Amino acid sequence: MYNNWEELEKSIINCKKCKLCTGRNNIVFGEGNKEADIMLIGEGPGADEDKQGLPFVGKAGQLMNKAFQGLGIDRNKVYIANVVKCRPPGNRVPESDEAKECLDYLRNQVILVKPKIIVLLGSTALKNILGNEYGITSSRGKWIEKNGILYMPTWHPAALLRDENKKIEFWKDLKEVVEKYKEIEKR
Ligand code: URA
Ligand code: SF4
Repeated sequence: MYNNWEELEKSIINCKKCKLCTGRNNIVFGEGNKEADIMLIGEGPGADEDKQGLPFVGKAGQLMNKAFQGLGIDRNKVYIANVVKCRPPGNRVPESDEAKECLDYLRNQVILVKPKIIVLLGSTALKNILGNEYGITSSRGKWIEKNGILYMPTWHPAALLRDENKKIEFWKDLKEVVEKYKEIEKR
């Protein structure tokens, strides 16, 4: 466990803990407000993210940015990270050994950011953070409180590109997050 960002990021740049290290061009550490009240967790870098070293900069990310803009939230106000920091080949789902090796980094990021709300983007984030007993279809849109953090599972933004109904639900879930955030701020 690292208690500062520099050391944590340095340890990831040189990480060879799992086989995903062999295919990466860049690690995707995470990005945003390091003191954010809202943190978003995705799955892992895609081709664009691997190229730029930044999370959610491809098509799915642009869609997510639009949703935030529409709700009056600046992307820079939140913190965004992924379950794995290196791109899985062909955008496959991270395997359980890869996620397991990488999760310590994400946990460390959560400890440093201290978010009040965590948005879990899709099944990989949900299962790796809250447990395999959770399913995204039945869990999405419902708050789950654990160890003082409020979790909101929702669709992965990439799923929205294929299904218009999911777009509506995603929007609804994010709106719920923004409303909860405003409620917490007022306390
Ligand atoms: N999909 C993810 O899960 N994370 C990213 O950073 C980009 C796409
Ligand atoms: Fe290390 Fe995570 Fe990259 Fe695997 S995915 S090599 S654990 S940083």
